[in-house]
Amino acid sequence: MRDILPPESARWRRFGEVFVELVEAAGYGQLISPLLEDLGVFTRIGEATDVVTKEMYDFVDKGDRHVALRPEMTASVCRAFAQHRPTTPWKVYYLGPNFRYEKPQRGRYRQFEQVGVEVLGGDDPYIDVEVIALAWEFYRRLGLRQVTLVVNSLGEPDDRARFVEALRGHLEAAGDALSEQGRTTLTRNPLRVLDSRHGDDKAVVAGAPPIADFYSEGAARHFEDVQAGLQALDIPFRVEPGLVRGLDYYRRTIFEFQGATLDSAQNALGGGGRYDGLVEALGGPPTPGVGFALGLDRTLLACADEGVFDCRPRPLDAFVVDVTGGREALTLTAELRAAGLAVDRAFDNRSMKAQMKVADRSGAEHAVIVGDDELAAGTVVVKPLRSDGTQLTIPRSTLIAHLTGTETR
Ligand code: HAM
Repeated sequence: MRDILPPESARWRRFGEVFVELVEAAGYGQLISPLLEDLGVFTRIGEATDVVTKEMYDFVDKGDRHVALRPEMTASVCRAFAQHRPTTPWKVYYLGPNFRYEKPQRGRYRQFEQVGVEVLGGDDPYIDVEVIALAWEFYRRLGLRQVTLVVNSLGEPDDRARFVEALRGHLEAAGDALSEQGRTTLTRNPLRVLDSRHGDDKAVVAGAPPIADFYSEGAARHFEDVQAGLQALDIPFRVEPGLVRGLDYYRRTIFEFQGATLDSAQNALGGGGRYDGLVEALGGPPTPGVGFALGLDRTLLACADEGVFDCRPRPLDAFVVDVTGGREALTLTAELRAAGLAVDRAFDNRSMKAQMKVADRSGAEHAVIVGDDELAAGTVVVKPLRSDGTQLTIPRSTLIAHLTGTETR
């Protein structure tokens, strides 16, 4: 868990703003849900996933409830849907922190930030396309170029179950040809062997029956429509039959956005897919759902690697330097701020030299200086700090007009 200090925090805030502008213009409204939920909400993500078995921050509260900090937000969205029963399609977005007890490293943290959308109550493959296209456009607006979209379909639940059994048979037959880690994964969740990074496992997996052989007609058509939709929008993608994703609730479409500049273990900038059974598992009516979540921490690392999205906080218009005791700075600063200008000042009645140093460091456009002579004459000195313009002494009453460029000459 990290502190994010200024000016880096400005990038975080702007990241959220760019996302909100994009998704609100596509008809999504914000869901604000609690950071803490009943543990049972998250165990529905899948008992066979690391997120649930190893990484949960869970504890018993003072009321004897077993609760957990959210490791992701899709389960919370489905819980909220089951509880409030809004009209469908329900298009929501969210942003905020999540918690997973993982081994921290570059791009992997125990508290990390996500932005995401979910659409509940629609089966249409073009909803899948809409959410993927939104994520794609978001990366584009950040300025990221080195992002690859990979897609896959896990088929209907029955297709997926038959595929998992066939895969289990294939992997078990391979025996010691699998790595030790691969054999352990196999007993818990055969699908996860598909994205093993171990060379031995990769060789075994290469000979496994392809998932597409198990698609029902409906699942195959749905996936074809998703691909056709992406093509119609000129969104480049690669079908990756080995893509399985780390959460267990997915059915049919799944996708991931991979950043080229990050280590392969942490290169997923975001991902998502369909989770058609999750609302039901949380006590709601059968409701299809699809969405994505994008990791802010990793995406900002990718932006830094690509040298894009370098947003800086708004520069100050003026910095007030008052060597008469500080009362003038107090009222001047208040007046200038009330006029909409970005203004800071020095405190503690320090020397002119010391205050000018702080003014320079502040990045302000102008220093507004008040000394004893100015105070007596009702004037201020305006000194440009970022340009070669000349220093002027002007009546205090014309300062706002001068700084906003609205003075009449
Ligand atoms: P996820 O793949 O677990 O999916 O997480 C989505 C993104 O969150 C990842 O691609 C990554 O960028 C970021 N992320 C995950 N864990 C960490 C971590 N420890 N440190 C930094 N970043 C991390 C989900 O969470 C699903 N809820 C996505 C979804 C929405 N599926 C359907 N709707």
